Parts: sequence; C-alpha cells; structure tokens
Amino acid sequence: MTKTSDIKLLATHIKKNPDAKVIFMVGAGISTSCGIPDFRSPKTGLYHNLSKLNLPFAESVFDVDYFKQNPKPFYTLARELYPGNFKPSKFHYLMKLFEKKGRLKRIYTQNIDTLEREAGIFPEYVIEAHGSFSSNHCIECAKEFPLEVFRDQLALDCKYINIFEYAKCDKCKGLIKPRIVFFGENLPSEFFDTWDEDLEWLCGRKKSENDIVIVAGTSLTVYPFASLHSEVPSHVKRVLFNIDSVGDFASNPRQSDLQFKGKLDEAAFILAHELHWGKDLELLMKTENDVLDIVEALENLNI
Ligand code: OAD
Ligand code: ZN
Repeated sequence: MTKTSDIKLLATHIKKNPDAKVIFMVGAGISTSCGIPDFRSPKTGLYHNLSKLNLPFAESVFDVDYFKQNPKPFYTLARELYPGNFKPSKFHYLMKLFEKKGRLKRIYTQNIDTLEREAGIFPEYVIEAHGSFSSNHCIECAKEFPLEVFRDQLALDCKYINIFEYAKCDKCKGLIKPRIVFFGENLPSEFFDTWDEDLEWLCGRKKSENDIVIVAGTSLTVYPFASLHSEVPSHVKRVLFNIDSVGDFASNPRQSDLQFKGKLDEAAFILAHELHWGKDLELLMKTENDVLDIVEALENLNI
C-alpha cells in the first residue's frame, strides 16, 4: 500500500521541529529514474542483465579474484555506470535542498555514480560507502593512478569494442581498478569513522530535537551498510522511501517508523510540496541542470 499519508506526517514532523536534522541512507533506487539500472530489481536490475556475460554468479562482477581472471564484465558494467553520462534525479536535488535549508546532517550512499556530487551537495555531507570512480590503484602492488588511466582505457575499449586491453600498472603489470568496494574488500575507513561520530552525535542530541533518518532506494541486503538503520537510537524517527518494504521496516519495524511505498521522485515531489519547498526544488533543478549542460557543452568543445 502506498502511504502518501506517511509523507504528510513526515512533513509535519519536519515543520514542527526546526532543529531536527536528517541523515539519508540511500542506494541504487534513487538513480533509476536517471537511466541507471539498480542491481536487484527483477528483469531491469543489473544482476539480471549481467547473465548474458556468463558470470558464475551475478555478484562475481564485484569479486576481486574473478576480476583478476576476467576483467571484461567489470569493464562492461563500468562503461554503463561511468560518471558524466547521467544527470541527478529529483530525489538527489531534494537532498541538496535539505542541505540548503540547513536541515541535512549527512548522506550515506552505496552508489558509485557520484550523482550526489553532480547535484552540488557539498562533499563533507556525503559518505560514498562503496567507493567511487574518482581514484584508481593497482590491485597487486597498490600503486595509485590518476582518474584518467582507467577512464581513457574505458573510452578506448568503447571505440574498439573487440579489443579488450585493460589498464595495467607500469610497475608490476597488475590490473588497475577504481576504488569501488568489491565483495570481500573493506569499506573506506571514512565510512566507519563518520558513522561512529554521527551515531555518538545522534545519541547525544536532545530527544526534543527529533532528528530523522531517511532510508531510500535500497534493498538493504549488503552489509555493513544494511545494519546502519538498526543502530539508530529509538528516539530518532526512521522513514523508508522505497518501492517495497525492506530491512527492519519489514522484519523488525518500530511503532514510530514511517513508510512510503512508491517511486522516489514522486516521494520527493510530494514531500517538497508539503514542506512548501516545491518552487525551490524546481528552481534548484533548473539552475543545477543548466550548469551541468554548460559543463557538458564545454567538455564536448574540449575547452
Ligand atoms: P538494489 O538493487 O539491491 O536495491 C534497490 C532498491 O530500490 C530495491 O528495493 C528497488 O525496489 C528500489 N527501487 C528501484 N527503483 C526505485 C524507484 N524509482 N523508487 C523507489 N524505489 C526504487 O540496490 P542497493 O540496495 O543500492 O555494490 O544495492 C546495494 C549494493 O549491492 C550496491 O551498492 C552494489 C551492489 O552489489 C557495489 O556497487 C559495490
Ligand atoms: Zn602494480
């Protein structure tokens, strides 16, 4: 059941509690409307569509040992997801609006598409829990490489689709991989350190401040990210925006939890409207998209 009424309750809560801050915990579902498939949705998810690459199992695409044997599936996926090809969604801009209004505490994202940055959200607010394409290293000797090394190789592969030559380390000939967290690898220390700080901060806040955690567009299946929402103190309101109910919201709900089951851009629209931020959201989207268009045009001109 889609509960628009829960968005109205959330809006009332935000309006009534001007000191309340919001922590977002988000996943691939916030970027599907930008044209980036999520991972686990039946039929449209990346893991379903990767079956054509004959992987032993879908998640092998993010497995270091498999990548060493066969980097092609990861290259194929990287080409689809590479930053710069997509624009942020309404939901990304809603998060930016929370920042502009002074109501944002943090965004924990599992996404590697960097659309939070593209939406103009300041980096100090964003924790990219599963890394990003913004830096590269050799998987054998750990030598760091600039962003261009992987990006240029990817572009080359695009032109000569059958010639799969991979970015290799000049020191040891190991494969170069962007700092995206693969299965079995540690999440960045920044993720753990910031969450410890934010949790301590949440626990130390007065109950009357009525802070909020919004979980959005994630199936909450990949740990440790999936455990964050369970650690949130009980005086903090938890909200889920997702097509289906997931995590604690399905299996261990709290009486104070709110849930909207539906599309995220619709949720963003309704929430902005209820908060009387509708015009601000439209303006923000227009301005930021104009800036992105100019940047893209300049890039195309090679300036
Ligand atoms: P999933 O694909 O597992 O989950 C996406 C969730 O978003 C699902 O519950 C969808 O129903 C929901 N969803 C999709 N589109 C939506 C929309 N427009 N509105 C509302 N809900 C929508 O993606 P994640 O939970 O992000 O790892 O996946 C977690 C990790 O698994 C990823 O970070 C990735 C993958 O292995 C790495 O990239 C390293
Ligand atoms: Zn090396």
